[in-house]
Amino acid sequence: MVNKMRTLTEPFKIKMVEPLKVTTEEYRIEALKKAGYNTFLLSSKDVFIDLLTDSGTGAMSDRQWSGIMMGDESYAGARSWEHLETVVKDLTGMPYILPTHQGRAAERILYSILGGKDKIFISNTHFDTTRANIEYTGAKAIDIVCEEGKDNQIDLPFKGNIDLFKLKELIQEYGKENIACIIMTVTNNSSGGQPVSMENVREVRKICDEHNLLLVLDACRIAENSYFIHHREHGFSERTFKSIAQEMLGLADAFVMSAKKDGLVNMGGLLTLRDEELSVKCKNMLIISEGFTTYGGLSGRDMEALAIGLEEVFDEDYLHYRIRSTAYLGEHLKAKGIPVVWPIGGHAVYIDAKKLYKNIPVNQYPGQALVCDLYIKGGIRCVEVGSVMFGKYDEKGELIPAPNELVRLAIPRRVYTQSHIDYVLDIFDDILEMEDANTGYKITYEPPFLRHFTAHFEPIK
Ligand code: F0G
Repeated sequence: MVNKMRTLTEPFKIKMVEPLKVTTEEYRIEALKKAGYNTFLLSSKDVFIDLLTDSGTGAMSDRQWSGIMMGDESYAGARSWEHLETVVKDLTGMPYILPTHQGRAAERILYSILGGKDKIFISNTHFDTTRANIEYTGAKAIDIVCEEGKDNQIDLPFKGNIDLFKLKELIQEYGKENIACIIMTVTNNSSGGQPVSMENVREVRKICDEHNLLLVLDACRIAENSYFIHHREHGFSERTFKSIAQEMLGLADAFVMSAKKDGLVNMGGLLTLRDEELSVKCKNMLIISEGFTTYGGLSGRDMEALAIGLEEVFDEDYLHYRIRSTAYLGEHLKAKGIPVVWPIGGHAVYIDAKKLYKNIPVNQYPGQALVCDLYIKGGIRCVEVGSVMFGKYDEKGELIPAPNELVRLAIPRRVYTQSHIDYVLDIFDDILEMEDANTGYKITYEPPFLRHFTAHFEPIK
């Protein structure tokens, strides 16, 4: 029998719509100029397809919206809190659950307690807010993604893994008493959105046990990671996505989650812990800065929607559509000859801008140039994940570039249909046509931390 390629259909139908404005190229050139050539500073009404982030940009289901109406807004011990706590305890197996307004609030609470001057954090790759929260305490954050993860092209299943050999070396080098914790980012967002294997986390657990170190999972995309484990790792093909997530979380001492991703909500975060003493310290910080322990930074309706989202996200049809639709964009870009990070990760497609825009030197930010071109040509908004985001300066003020100059096209959950994505693919034909005409950019303003959010740029004539 011939194996027919079927269209990947969205496993939902639409019952509320949000109009999109169609703009001209001239209009977008002006809008981008006004935004200092930083797509974070654009007004969203001027964006046609918004692939800036998959964070908090998803569509909630009818069940979640019903939950919103049922939210209990009591200050303490709300019914919606109890619902959320039950769901999260079941998922994590951890006894102490702290709600926060988003992921970085959970990070700030935990890492300000664990961090401080001369402390060392080691991760497969720290996400930018994670690194910033750590460095803000005076501590040092070290990334040690596995060797395969540094190769943008090699086709391997778990390129988000940590380098176990280097992890052991670093523990020897710095001494276990100086190490604040080991953070596994799952999936590995800043390293191409690549998944992490269960085996890798099991090995990290063993190393942590040997040295009495704390293992934190920064796992806002744990359901997506579970899909990859189910399909790629030996021994998991019969397991449910949820049970895979439960097993991985079971290996950790703490879990930090930006619920704006696999929580399927627009706002929310979680910090969950196994250790009572640490939970008391974190709860104190939570009350000082976020809110009482049974709501953190969230309203009752937010917690209700999150409790429902955390169950929906493990639905087989949803996860299949989610991962395959991201791959659809990536595979079709690759077929056009666009250099994409391979294999395609779960939540986003990453383009190697250094390879695509060979004529733009790294200190003129080829990633930013592609981000600007995609906006001008198609009203597509995305983000640079390269030297704008991670570059530093040496004593002479020269740029120390990031290891890669990537551009991320992040896919919001349940928002765009295949025809929107086909439109994005069409715009890349225009990009390919202008390959040599593109210009680099210089930074004209930047803040000391997380500069990519607010920096201003100018094209280099
Ligand atoms: N950790 C990871 C791995 C993340 O991807 C993010 C957010 C955070 C922590 C922080 O969570 O935004 O809720 O405070 N990532 C978004 C992104 C912003 O676009 O990738 P937050």
